[in-house]
Amino acid sequence: MRLLITGASGLLGISLALESMRAHEVIGVDRGKLKSAPFQVIKADLLRRNAIASILDQAHPDWLVNCAALTNLEKSEEYPDLARILNAEIPGELAQACEKRGVRFVHISTDAVFDGEKTDQYTEEDQPSPLGVYARTKFDGERAVREADAKAIIARVNFFGWSLSGKHSLSEFFVNNLREGKYINGFTDIVFCPIFVYHTARMLVAMLEKGLSGLYHVVGGQAMSKYQFGVEVARKFGLRESFIQPKSVLSSSLTARRSHNLWLSTHKLSTDLGREIPNFSTGLDEFYTQYEQSYPQKIRGYQQELPTESGNLSTGTPTP
Ligand SMILES: NC(=O)c1ccc[n+]([C@@H]2O[C@H](COP(=O)([O-])OP(=O)(O)OC[C@H]3O[C@@H](n4cnc5c(N)ncnc54)[C@H](OP(=O)(O)O)[C@@H]3O)[C@@H](O)[C@H]2O)c1
Repeated sequence: MRLLITGASGLLGISLALESMRAHEVIGVDRGKLKSAPFQVIKADLLRRNAIASILDQAHPDWLVNCAALTNLEKSEEYPDLARILNAEIPGELAQACEKRGVRFVHISTDAVFDGEKTDQYTEEDQPSPLGVYARTKFDGERAVREADAKAIIARVNFFGWSLSGKHSLSEFFVNNLREGKYINGFTDIVFCPIFVYHTARMLVAMLEKGLSGLYHVVGGQAMSKYQFGVEVARKFGLRESFIQPKSVLSSSLTARRSHNLWLSTHKLSTDLGREIPNFSTGLDEFYTQYEQSYPQKIRGYQQELPTESGNLSTGTPTP
């Protein structure tokens, strides 16, 4: 299969590209960060007129996985128009363009569409009630995608891993600060279902290969608080868990409202895939192994141009 991945420089996008290129042809869409990625890259800004038609015409993919978004909750509050365009309108336009061309579409959404008032697990049947601009625009994106393409996969995710910037994910927040000996807060009153981003990527590829469609919760099988998550990361890396101070999110200076319970059921996904969801500790082990093997430095290097034999700089893998 030929996979086109938007948001290829993002945490999920780069992980999905590197994972899926082992069995499939991968083309990433990037605004200019990726200069020497080991997969083909098309440079495009999705906010530009005709960008969607142009990337689809260049790549001729079988599948398009949309990992592009405005993901920062605080920035979404600050720039609600940008959040609406990136998280709601562009996904709808991508879905429409894919439907017209017979390209299968996967849209990445979020666990944060729920307000967290439920005391049990959320299933795909539960009605979302998003709290802030980010969550609301992501939910609007789900609706726009569903309207444009009933066969699309909509995957609500939450994951951890190593990002291109080295400081995007919650896992990197704990590792970086604890390595520097800093005291940090861990929220005890936000429960979520973290999963290693390569496990997310593997599940998404399995969903494509199996030809699934519709709404799925693609998260970890184990719910924990953000504080507990930090403690697990600290233990794995041999860092001081006592430097993580258990705090309520209500005592923080964050402006975007956050749900207290993001415990999502993965029953539908594991049933339809016919396999267990990879467990948290296996993912944490892999996250640590990547650290030992200098994976964070390796992916950061994809932002450097490759020196050629003549000493000149090349721009890496040629665009198609
Ligand atoms: N991280 C999580 O745990 C989590 C939780 C829930 C849901 N999600 C969802 O998962 C998806 C991926 O998240 P992530 O954490 O991997 O995101 P991320 O690291 O913030 O990456 C976002 C990507 O979108 C790209 N992008 C933004 N504006 C663009 C534009 N105008 N044109 C083209 N590309 C643009 C970014 O490119 P630049 O690098 O050039 O900015 C980047 O590659 C998102 O839909 C997010 O809502 C993530």
